[in-house]
Amino acid sequence: MSTLLYIESSPREADSYSSQAAAIYLDALPNGVTVEHLNLFAAGLPEFNAAAAAAKYKVMRGEALNPAEESAWSEVLALVEGFKAADHYLIAAPMWNFSIPYKLKQYIDLITHPGLTFIPRPDGMEGLAGGDAVVIYSRGGNYGPKDGQPDPYDHQSPYLQSWLGLVGVRLTAEVAVQGTMRPPVGADSHLDGTRARLVELAAGIGAN
Ligand SMILES: Cc1cc2nc3c(=O)[nH]c(=O)nc-3n(C[C@H](O)[C@H](O)[C@H](O)COP(=O)(O)O)c2cc1C
Repeated sequence: MSTLLYIESSPREADSYSSQAAAIYLDALPNGVTVEHLNLFAAGLPEFNAAAAAAKYKVMRGEALNPAEESAWSEVLALVEGFKAADHYLIAAPMWNFSIPYKLKQYIDLITHPGLTFIPRPDGMEGLAGGDAVVIYSRGGNYGPKDGQPDPYDHQSPYLQSWLGLVGVRLTAEVAVQGTMRPPVGADSHLDGTRARLVELAAGIGAN
């Protein structure tokens, strides 16, 4: 038995290409994988506000928290616990202004703290989450490599790669649904080019 945390970050539900691609992956998972679904636009995430920021710095310095900071930090701890409980991750991320939607960044800001999801070591960062991740991107345009070089406007993939590395989650694969604002080329659906890969990745979960 293992647990997969599905982090959905489009608010567009059935219209969302990243969510539709995630559904293909989830449908193909083998028996024995329990899915926890975190819909970030429906989750009512707390703000990472002044009390939360003060708590973060005080915890780092080993100082006592006031009641407002205790309250903010307990919400952070609950989210961190939920994140770290998973063995596998599926992150579905639309491109918004070359990067990830703000709710996904808010979630990352809420759960990424020294001593909780990573530890700074003299020779670099030690991630504490563990597990492996498949990341699905959906993009109105096409941000694949150009002339063998990464697209300089793609701030989704480099950012999530860095963050997953920081928190110690191994990136198994990235799957991009691209050109979603244009009619599909040579296919019935923008998803057709990714379907087989998503099924293959789900069937081999944990094996790569
Ligand atoms: C706020 C917002 C910003 C967007 N910014 C970009 C962008 O920078 N580049 C791009 O190619 N498409 C952009 N798009 C289009 C989306 O990436 C595209 O519609 C994608 O399919 C959204 O993912 P979803 O279908 O899972 O919701 C943007 C859409 C929204 C709503």
